[in-house]
Amino acid sequence: MAEHEGMDGIAAAYEGLETTFADDGALDAYRRSALERHVAQGDVVAALLPPDATVLEIGTGNGRLLIDLARRGLLASALGVDLARSRIAFAEQWATDDGAAGLRFAAGDALTMDLGGAGEWDAAIVITGALAYFDAVAPGSARALLDRLRDGLKPGGRLVLELYPHPSWRQLLDDAEDGRARLWSELPDGDPWRFYLSDLHLDGETGVLTHRKTFVHRTTGEIDEGRREALRLYATDDLVALLHDAGFGEVETFAGWDGAPYDDGELLVVTAVRAD
Ligand SMILES: C[S@@+](CC[C@H](N)C(=O)[O-])C[C@H]1O[C@@H](n2cnc3c(N)ncnc32)[C@H](O)[C@@H]1O
Repeated sequence: MAEHEGMDGIAAAYEGLETTFADDGALDAYRRSALERHVAQGDVVAALLPPDATVLEIGTGNGRLLIDLARRGLLASALGVDLARSRIAFAEQWATDDGAAGLRFAAGDALTMDLGGAGEWDAAIVITGALAYFDAVAPGSARALLDRLRDGLKPGGRLVLELYPHPSWRQLLDDAEDGRARLWSELPDGDPWRFYLSDLHLDGETGVLTHRKTFVHRTTGEIDEGRREALRLYATDDLVALLHDAGFGEVETFAGWDGAPYDDGELLVVTAVRAD
């Protein structure tokens, strides 16, 4: 697989994830599973919204969170954006099939595309680690995104983030002399790929983790290499400072979607409020 850099690389990694389904039953099963696996996210976001809410989601993927909120009858209007055109097409079709009139999806780069009017949104959501891609592509761009989200929120509007800080990898890489480590994992029985090599590098200056992935096929032994992901690993204090600098207050950190306080674990959920 060819290696792409920057935003093109992210789009290429996600393009085509939801394209072919054998029949309507397979499509329904995929949509149902996407909703069922993440009910807790919907519950938490739903509890933060006012009635007839307006919601912006960055890196919306297949649109499942906004679909979930629309099905709960909570949305007056919402916009979901994503770099991957195929994912946006999937989300649009899903919203049409659901008759979710107030839902809009658009393909593009959240740093430059139209994200709605100033003070339009009750909530801005960036989950499943999407914020971590930004500084890895262009240092400082997470702050630029947060500035755009702050401006787009109503005063008192909510920001919801979900990040994967990878504390165990960070520890391993901090201890390694050159900031590099290689880890083999075995995938579950049903997976066509059996082994998975993670080649990790943490840049101590930028906090950017580069993760090259190599898969070994279960039956053919075929090798798939060249898939690469780059993520900014945030220390909690740095992330909280970044949010304050970008004009957010009431920053709270959680260990997941059940409301427990953050414990330096693998999942970090953050809520904050536009300060002015
Ligand atoms: C891990 S996926 C999460 C998708 C979705 N939030 C979910 O939970 O299923 C991250 C998404 O962020 C999108 N993304 C990354 N950088 C982006 C950018 N600069 N602008 C818009 N979308 C972006 C990717 O295309 C990808 O679909």
